[in-house]
Amino acid sequence: MMQHSPQAGILLPVPPLARYLSFSLAPGAHPGAHLRGLRELVDGQNTVAGFGRVLITALNEEIAGLRDFPALAGPGVAVPATPTALWLWLRGEDRGEILHRSRRLTSALAPAFKLDEACDAFLFDGGRDLSGYQDGTENPVAQEAIDAAIVDVQEPVLGGSSFVAVQRWQHDFSRLERMGENERDLVVGRRRVDNQEIDDAPESAHVKRTAQESFTPEAFVVRRSMPWADGMHGGLIFVAFGRSLEAFEVQLRRMVGMDDGIVDALFKFSRPETGAYFWCPAMVNGRLDLSPLGL
Ligand code: HEM
Repeated sequence: MMQHSPQAGILLPVPPLARYLSFSLAPGAHPGAHLRGLRELVDGQNTVAGFGRVLITALNEEIAGLRDFPALAGPGVAVPATPTALWLWLRGEDRGEILHRSRRLTSALAPAFKLDEACDAFLFDGGRDLSGYQDGTENPVAQEAIDAAIVDVQEPVLGGSSFVAVQRWQHDFSRLERMGENERDLVVGRRRVDNQEIDDAPESAHVKRTAQESFTPEAFVVRRSMPWADGMHGGLIFVAFGRSLEAFEVQLRRMVGMDDGIVDALFKFSRPETGAYFWCPAMVNGRLDLSPLGL
């Protein structure tokens, strides 16, 4: 039997630099041949690929568990859904190399795929969000990360693959700068100076909203978010991998107040501008396994 493995970049620590490319499908496009071309360029480690429902349905296929990103609304907050066909996460350490790689990928995908967005991201201060808070602390590690993020490799069709939720959040830095240190700590639910959890933080605190063990069943995801910047704007590209999309979605629903009317305090200084789900195929013999798509 062929040995399936996850795209390695999913389980590795976030790289110093990255770029996220999103593509839509040209009208009437036949994406199959381009995806075979893409297979030669995606190694799963430096470049991670995710396929949206738009693309899967254009191929007349279905991936069990891949659904549409939900547009949600809660008291005073909205979470948009902006589905796209294809998502590529270019991980690296050299902006020039990443640019050239983007160009190779984009031309291999043209004209069936149209580049809609290229967003540059980076590691900030050893792994902090641009708000100053350490990000990723409560991520599962080692086997627990595999269990949370990857479909069991023994599973017949989708084994070794993964699902990912991606949102671009834009921070309101002026708002953040007007808050005092204590207020910010209570927004997150952790102290910026030492990353200690604040036990008596309000229910709106982000880490109380999303505490993975507080859900039934427990809702673990592997977050690989990275700060982004463009001119004077910036924020977080939130990226959560899961063996299904369920864990992310219950967290998101609670963040917008759909469980109890309490909105995550993060919305005081940040807003999601995009939101999409993708399926990340497994690797086989060093290449993306596109057999679940009949390719
Ligand atoms: C602007 C957007 C966001 C920022 C700046 C942010 C930042 C943070 C920070 C600083 C932590 C604490 C350290 C850690 O455990 O990583 C955290 C925890 C966490 N965040 Fe976010 N986050 C954002 C959006 C989201 C979204 C949209 C979700 C899911 C829907 C999410 C899910 C989680 C989870 C599951 C944890 C760990 C909770 C636990 O089990 O303790 N975050 N986030």
